[in-house]
Amino acid sequence: MESADASWGLWTTRFFWLGVAVAAYEVFRLIRFVWHIRRLFLVGNPGAVGPHLGAWAVVTGATDGIGKAYAEELAKRRMKVVLISRSQEKLDKVASDIRDKYKVETKTIVADFQNRDTIYSNIKAGLEGLEIGILVNNVGIGYPRPECFLDVPELDKLIDNMININCISVCKMTQLVLPNMVKRSKGVILNMSSIAAVNQAPFLAVYSATKGFVSYFSHCLNVEYRDKGIIVQSFVPDLVFTKMSKISRPNIFRPTPERFVKYAINTVGLVSETAGYPFHEFLVWLIHLIPSWISDEVMARVIIHGKHSIYKKQKAN
Ligand SMILES: NC(=O)c1ccc[n+]([C@@H]2O[C@H](COP(=O)([O-])OP(=O)(O)OC[C@H]3O[C@@H](n4cnc5c(N)ncnc54)[C@H](OP(=O)(O)O)[C@@H]3O)[C@@H](O)[C@H]2O)c1
Repeated sequence: MESADASWGLWTTRFFWLGVAVAAYEVFRLIRFVWHIRRLFLVGNPGAVGPHLGAWAVVTGATDGIGKAYAEELAKRRMKVVLISRSQEKLDKVASDIRDKYKVETKTIVADFQNRDTIYSNIKAGLEGLEIGILVNNVGIGYPRPECFLDVPELDKLIDNMININCISVCKMTQLVLPNMVKRSKGVILNMSSIAAVNQAPFLAVYSATKGFVSYFSHCLNVEYRDKGIIVQSFVPDLVFTKMSKISRPNIFRPTPERFVKYAINTVGLVSETAGYPFHEFLVWLIHLIPSWISDEVMARVIIHGKHSIYKKQKAN
């Protein structure tokens, strides 16, 4: 009887210390995360991006949303900006707003990134002779609304366009600007991925996979070129208040593109991948913390909920 009591006591003590060790580890992880948030978003690296990298910045998808906010932020930091998008009219408007407000030179290049076979020689000619310090590979398209793969309207077209715009553009634009950055031993390439690359996003399968591509490409390139003075960084945000996200208003969890960029640009050079915005960084941390069967289920439910509200809005219009 006594030996059974002693054995029970021994196991209770072992479980108690195991519990203490697990709790201490979780507290350590939380402190480390708080420190990480402080380093990225409170301290930041505000001097990392500016004309010292090179006189010109290049932004793809620069006439709206996050791309436009990047173009403005870079002009605010005294960089000349090359804006690339589909519509000359929209490009002219953004370029003249930037010139008026920030008194920096701008240049526009019309390109539809759907057309991978024809546009890059024209972009190359447009960038000829410019000292490019930073490239923001921002252009990207999403689904009209979340759907199962075979139910996506005009699936053939979506597959081609999404791969050309979200993936090929990132590689080709990098191929155009990187050689000169390497020659000058400095430069920054920022690639817009998405939280859909951190946690697979069912019902947005092609989008999620293209963003996984962007994250992997960025990470590999960063390792290949960091010793040559080049920073390649990817961003994996959750929803930002833009046309693409189709959300009705911004809030603290869903920032305006300007607010997102204000935080994101100060993280350059500190990590190879970040959500770029404190609350989104917390979500990414949670995703890594919880088992994938839970995060997959939550992600699927959130997307389905989004699908229903987009569907309702589309029906009402
Ligand atoms: N918004 C979000 O919640 C969110 C979250 C995570 C990641 N992201 C990523 O962030 C990036 C920017 O997203 P956003 O929300 O700012 O998008 P957005 O508001 O829809 O703006 C897209 C920009 O790209 C241009 N564009 C679209 N298709 C193009 C094409 N075929 N060729 C050339 N330019 C084209 C658009 O200009 P024109 O129409 O004038 O050509 C516009 O300037 C994307 O890569 C997206 O995947 C967004």
